[in-house]
Amino acid sequence: MEIRIEKTQTPKEKPQDETKLGFGHIFTDHMFIMDYDTGMGWHDARVVPYGDISLSPAAMVLHYGQEIFEGLKAYRTADGSIQFFRPIENFKRMNISAERLVIPEIPVEDALQALHTVVEVDKDWVPHTDGASLYIRPFIFAADPFLGVRPGDKYYFMIIMSPSGAYYSTGLEPVSIYVETKYVRAVRGGMGFTKTGGNYAASLHSQDDAHKLNYSQVLWLDGIEQKYIEEVGSMNIMFVIDGEVVTPQLQGSVLSGITRKSVLELCKKWGIKATERRISIQEVADAYDAGKLDEVFGTGTAAVVSPVGHLRWGDKVMEIGGNKIGKLTQRLYDTMTGMQYGKIPDDMGWIEKL
Ligand code: COI
Repeated sequence: MEIRIEKTQTPKEKPQDETKLGFGHIFTDHMFIMDYDTGMGWHDARVVPYGDISLSPAAMVLHYGQEIFEGLKAYRTADGSIQFFRPIENFKRMNISAERLVIPEIPVEDALQALHTVVEVDKDWVPHTDGASLYIRPFIFAADPFLGVRPGDKYYFMIIMSPSGAYYSTGLEPVSIYVETKYVRAVRGGMGFTKTGGNYAASLHSQDDAHKLNYSQVLWLDGIEQKYIEEVGSMNIMFVIDGEVVTPQLQGSVLSGITRKSVLELCKKWGIKATERRISIQEVADAYDAGKLDEVFGTGTAAVVSPVGHLRWGDKVMEIGGNKIGKLTQRLYDTMTGMQYGKIPDDMGWIEKL
């Protein structure tokens, strides 16, 4: 694929204090963009100065939400080099989302080339500070001006990048999670397994309710019986019950997280029993009451591995591990971030150098 590069004449000042980046506020100097038109396919790949884009008010994405996205990071190692964590998995998953939303797929090798090219142009934006990284957001949306409901004929694939710190402002402090019993995020047969904006829009009301009660995130239950645990929305969820790691199985309504998959693979390698199965919120509460709920943590690209300190289900408030990060959670966090920042050797073949 040929990629045209147009560099900015007015580069921005980079953040001075990388400990105060927050998440997703600051954008780099450039972005990647490529057009799709029915009959032409994907064409006109380019890296251009970061900036606003012009869209018709009738652009289909604004009305019917035909949009998908991904999230991955570029990390700077101690020797100054830059690397990615399993980027191929992101672009494979992007095509799975694309298929569900009738968006034209992008060959994985083209998407990887776009990623490497735009990060190379903005490589000085990859933070140098431990815990900070360049968060990368690839996305595709339907742009034709039309108010009928049908798949688009015109799309854009874009990659924007944001130097960021921890997703949760509390960093590695345990997060508190509210179990949603009124609304649902997804149902089997719906779009829960895709990364599409609508899934996140569906979560906002509950997130607001949770914030009012001083909980930072929402844990979703299944959309049919509201009994079985699904995911948190910004991350997948795992429970350590009596020494065994248990996480909801993927059955169409849960996102197939890349960190989730990596954690399961690490547990297997370490000889820790890790099971993907249905798990009800009642089972979690029972394990808590029996003193067998050892640890709870979330996994996600943005969230990495995040300890859960409190879980509230109705009136029941469970404090997990004394609201402190558990041993396995810490080991997983150290191993994942160790590989990502090049501090420990990658014996899993997960790291891809820029
Ligand atoms: C990610 O972990 O990269 C995500 O896309 C989750 C998002 C809500 C920040």
